[in-house]
Amino acid sequence: MNDTTHRPADRQAALRARLGGIGLGADYNPDQWPEATRTEDLALMARAGVTVVNLAIFAGARVEPARDAYDFTYFDRVMDDLAAHGITADLATMTAAPPPWLVTEHPEVLPVTADGVVLSPGGRRHFCPSSPVFRDRAARLVEAVATHYRDHPALGLWHVGNEYGCHVAECFCDTSAADFRRWLGERYNSVDALNDAWSTDFWSQRYASFDQILPPRTAPTYPNPSQQLDFKRFGNDALRTCFETETAILRRITPDVPVTTNFLAGLKSVDIYDWAPTMDVLSLDSYPDPNRDQAHIGAAMSYDTIRCAGGGEPWLLTEQAPSAVNWRSRNAAKSPGRTRLWSWQAVAQGADVIMYFQWRPSRGGAEKFHSRMVPHAGPDTRVFRDVADLGRELARVPELVGTRIHNRVALLSDWHSRWALELDSHPSDAVRHSDRALDHYAPLFDLGVGVDVVHPSADLSDYRLVIVPSLYLLSTEHADRLSRFVAGGGSLVVSFFSGIVDECDRVHLGGYPGPLREVLGISVEEFRPADAGVVFPLQGVSGSGDAPPTGTGDLRREDVTLKGARAEVEFAGAEWAGRPAATVHTHGAGIARYIATRPDTAAMRGLIARACADAGVEPVLPVLPRGVQASIRTGDGYDVLVLLDHADHADHADEVELPTPRRDLLADGQPTTRRVTLAPQAVAVLGSHPTEPAPTTTPESA
Ligand code: GAL
Repeated sequence: MNDTTHRPADRQAALRARLGGIGLGADYNPDQWPEATRTEDLALMARAGVTVVNLAIFAGARVEPARDAYDFTYFDRVMDDLAAHGITADLATMTAAPPPWLVTEHPEVLPVTADGVVLSPGGRRHFCPSSPVFRDRAARLVEAVATHYRDHPALGLWHVGNEYGCHVAECFCDTSAADFRRWLGERYNSVDALNDAWSTDFWSQRYASFDQILPPRTAPTYPNPSQQLDFKRFGNDALRTCFETETAILRRITPDVPVTTNFLAGLKSVDIYDWAPTMDVLSLDSYPDPNRDQAHIGAAMSYDTIRCAGGGEPWLLTEQAPSAVNWRSRNAAKSPGRTRLWSWQAVAQGADVIMYFQWRPSRGGAEKFHSRMVPHAGPDTRVFRDVADLGRELARVPELVGTRIHNRVALLSDWHSRWALELDSHPSDAVRHSDRALDHYAPLFDLGVGVDVVHPSADLSDYRLVIVPSLYLLSTEHADRLSRFVAGGGSLVVSFFSGIVDECDRVHLGGYPGPLREVLGISVEEFRPADAGVVFPLQGVSGSGDAPPTGTGDLRREDVTLKGARAEVEFAGAEWAGRPAATVHTHGAGIARYIATRPDTAAMRGLIARACADAGVEPVLPVLPRGVQASIRTGDGYDVLVLLDHADHADHADEVELPTPRRDLLADGQPTTRRVTLAPQAVAVLGSHPTEPAPTTTPESA
């Protein structure tokens, strides 16, 4: 972002100095309670070690109850109380839910679906991102809030909007249509260029002028895929423009206060890599389902994504559930110990702030059954005791603040590829971006190997192994970077349906996967998706090293022709016997693998383990029991190892051997032996040597 006042390092340092350690907090909605409750809240926050709150996210209607009639009296008292108690406000810009007066005066701000349905107020996020009225009213509100609180001692961070892209990812109204046409004009300059990019000679779609173009509204059959893809890009940009409009105001009025917005883990509509450079510190909301086996691995992948999007800087876990959520069909409570374990997991993977949704639940409203730090039953509850214990623990490890993680494996992820991959009219609708990424991430997690999840444009020079999991859309430029990475000695693993189309969703010609064929030494002629439940036997090829992976594949069985590569695994069984299922190719000084099916868990782990071995990639610790996650955060002259036992077995503890003795930072730095015993759901936080330098940050206010 070309912004001379943009000094993220300074602003990050300011936030660290304020918090003085790993931050703990929650969404705080005191306006949903009688004023007297706040006295108890603040006492309990002190008990729990709360240092930061997300404040006033949905308070727009209270602060501006009528057009231009700003009333800050209530939040002045709240902010004063927070300051008096040394609690930092991550103060919201209050623009995530337009107030009733605005939609009454201007119903045109309401969003419209692809089917033409106008979404009513009564929930939240009921605005069209392209609406000039909404943007103008949001800007005025932000100006008023920022001007009013610019010098308030509680203000430590700005929380812009809330979870952009949640609920309403895109709007199909006429205002959006006009904005889409403007956006297309800037992208393509001429309608001829657009016709070429969108392949509009197909089905008589050739446009004579930009005025003829509409959003991809519900049509008799598949709307043009390139149009759909561009509309996703436009939707992302329209939301980012809302965010940037607010951010520019905040930067002007409070140049020293850092700015963030909370991304929702797994959300498809907002491209975190695209937004990240406009933010001072990145924030993520994470709601893994306690009922889902291995949910922590999906969460781990999203933590590695947010950290890498922020250039490796520590990030904020702005929301997680203390126990159950209220928005799944069945909302499982977290078992005892899991809130702690999953909070520490975020810290292990680079978070410097741990927050919950929310502090105290309202008595009414749609989220009354969502879990909270202070339940309806009050503080004499397991949840409150657990989070308060966690607060005390987090306060013991200020040396973690600002430390970074260094990995040698990169897994490529790209929202544009995700949008394109998940369009209609494909060989199969069963290939989903996040599932495919997880199919590759999970074996690395199981092997104890740390992973960075990065955009294809990322600098790959520090990595030894790069994984490309069904990255359907890949530009020639990014494919060439991968070829150069391998030629220079890197290891590459590419999975089926990668490198198929260019940025306009047009097929790379000459055989799949167009720009990766040479580095992979293969060509693919047909994709052959499989029906659900159909599996193909896989046979490791003898002579291709120790224990070649065998097992089964499913989902896809591609027709691979070897063009220099050799098969490492073949399909078995009558019809396909001997056809390549996984290949390996030496290209320059490196090695490139291709996987033409979805191997079962063990076979996939075998292939990934081979790629790690070729690349010289080591796990974080030489030996880790199954289910134990290890992560190292490195500071200036020291590091901290975090061990997390995700295993569910209640019957036995896990033993972990450390290469060198470490101090147990949760037990006041007592020396440990080189052997750590972990009960199920246990956490160990272990400093590298007895004399770590004192942390550079100091608590500003206790
Ligand atoms: C988030 C949102 C919060 C709350 C929470 C409930 O998506 O930002 O405001 O609704 O979900 O889990």
